[in-house]
Amino acid sequence: MWGVATASHQIEGGNTNNWSVFEPRSKSQQLSGEACDHWNRRSEDIELIHNLGVSHYRFSIEWSRLVPEPGVWDADAAQWYSDLVDELLAKGLQPMATLHHFTQPVWWEERGGFEREENIQDWVDFSTRMFALLSDRVEWWCTINEPAVFTTMGYVLGEFPPGVRSFKRARNVALNMMRAHARCYQSLKAMDRGKHCQIGLVKNINLFDPYRRWNPVHWGQALLLNGMFNTCWLKGIQTGRFKPPSALRSQKVEGLKGSSDFIGVNYYTHLLATPFMPTKVEIDPLIRPWEQRTDFRYPMYAEGLRRALDMVKGLNLPIIVTECGVADDDDDMRPEHVRRHLHITAEAIADGLDVRGFYHWSLMDNFEWAEGYEQRFGLYHVDFSTQKRTLKNGGKQFADIAKAHRTPQVVIMAGGLGTRLGEMTERKPKSLIEVNGQPILTHILDWARKQGCLNALVLTGHLGEQFDGFTHPGMAVSFCREPSPLGTGGALWNARHLLEERFLLLWGDDLHPIQYRPLVERHEQSGAPLTMTVTQKHSAVNLHHHDGVLQNYDKAKPTKEFNGYEAGTSVVEKSAVLAHGKEGVWSWEETIYPALGGKAAVHLDDTTFWDMGTPERLALLEEFLNKTSL
Ligand code: GAL
Repeated sequence: MWGVATASHQIEGGNTNNWSVFEPRSKSQQLSGEACDHWNRRSEDIELIHNLGVSHYRFSIEWSRLVPEPGVWDADAAQWYSDLVDELLAKGLQPMATLHHFTQPVWWEERGGFEREENIQDWVDFSTRMFALLSDRVEWWCTINEPAVFTTMGYVLGEFPPGVRSFKRARNVALNMMRAHARCYQSLKAMDRGKHCQIGLVKNINLFDPYRRWNPVHWGQALLLNGMFNTCWLKGIQTGRFKPPSALRSQKVEGLKGSSDFIGVNYYTHLLATPFMPTKVEIDPLIRPWEQRTDFRYPMYAEGLRRALDMVKGLNLPIIVTECGVADDDDDMRPEHVRRHLHITAEAIADGLDVRGFYHWSLMDNFEWAEGYEQRFGLYHVDFSTQKRTLKNGGKQFADIAKAHRTPQVVIMAGGLGTRLGEMTERKPKSLIEVNGQPILTHILDWARKQGCLNALVLTGHLGEQFDGFTHPGMAVSFCREPSPLGTGGALWNARHLLEERFLLLWGDDLHPIQYRPLVERHEQSGAPLTMTVTQKHSAVNLHHHDGVLQNYDKAKPTKEFNGYEAGTSVVEKSAVLAHGKEGVWSWEETIYPALGGKAAVHLDDTTFWDMGTPERLALLEEFLNKTSL
């Protein structure tokens, strides 16, 4: 997942909640006011996300809008979030929703918020309602964002509402937040789509290091803070218990054990510990002499991201970097910050850590809580007097990297009727024939999705109405019909305005379960207009390849040099379609492959492809799917 993240109160504007009440008393005393006016600029902002070339967007749902008064449900607000989700999906962007990101309704804060266990159910009720509304379209859910930050800032440092400084109250809030997370997770999981959705906690991993490495007192302090801030929550999920040093005594929290399908990691920095650390944010934190301060005054420390990822790996859960970014007013650190943190993430993945995604904080400059508008975290600059958004260099850097590394769009030729399948496909496109209880198209999309494809374009041929209502949860699927049968080439030409610059091309009646990444990498290295997968284990041959390059393709008349068979999955540059395509009826393989002799790259992979051309082969595919779970 390549993503960007925001939170409701920081961008929407016009909110009334615990924060809007607290703002006049905050460190900056700035009011969130109209913030980025995102509530009125939703579509424009979605366009900004789309332009970054990312695949995912993490946002939070503002509880105070949905339930402004006890027992009141604002249907318009609910509709707004539902429309947000639809608009994202229409742009091929997958939503990730956070149910609590620091803010809560005023009436609930007045009742004591997370200080009272009996209040928890109100938030769980709100969460289940939103889940019921959106879980048919939103697969990724975060329960609580950074509970340890909420607790520390609100109840120890007094920088966040309610502005309290009391360890005792902080402890109690931490315990209730654990209960709330656990109850929310269990309630959502028990709902209709619970099993299909991924629900997890978002944890800020703040690293604590001894200021003087030779000083055991500094070490002690660092370990203590790490225990209170980080381990407490990670161990909580692992063991189901709230433990010292955060708790006074170890205590079981119902439903907490295993209550996360993934772990969200927000990573920003490390803090150097001494027993005399400032407990007010105004005082500069200590840094190493070689470190560079961000505008927030804490240092840029990219290596720490790896340590944060290593810290959560013991949970054995998929890891998602749900936030990572930098406050940098003049954008002179951001490009480097982006490169370093992505580099570290890539290294972690290469070393086997199960990191599934990276969300940059933040899409655009926004209301940075107690700091107000001075701390600018955006990939887009926002001029708060005009609401004009402008892409920064750091934003361009992130977009360039994301675009270059995303799994390409998948395009499926799904139109053909099967002449050899008899009555079954007289009127029904082959791709809709059910195998093992589901259309083969669904199996193909399942595989593509597993390989990281989130965007599919289905070329439906001229019987497009038969695809009406076809969806594939977790993927943005669009369709392109033909006025009359156009052949495989004509179908692509007909859809050329919907093709991305580079796409994966699959056949709608073939299941070809290969790893896409090596194929895409081979294509990137080759610089070819097209890279095809070739198997050398098929009973027939239809091409000659040499040194990784296609020499000659002939479907009908193989020569004795022929040494491979085109197996069905290729990577194509749109420019190849534009260069060789034409109006009318024509065959892709019979036109393009011969034309690209000496040019197209070959990716060797002997994985069996399962086509369903004849009743016998269909039976083999059925048997394969029966035995294998993709
Ligand atoms: C996180 C928080 C975000 C954002 C960011 C930058 O702790 O979840 O809302 O403000 O820090 O400081």
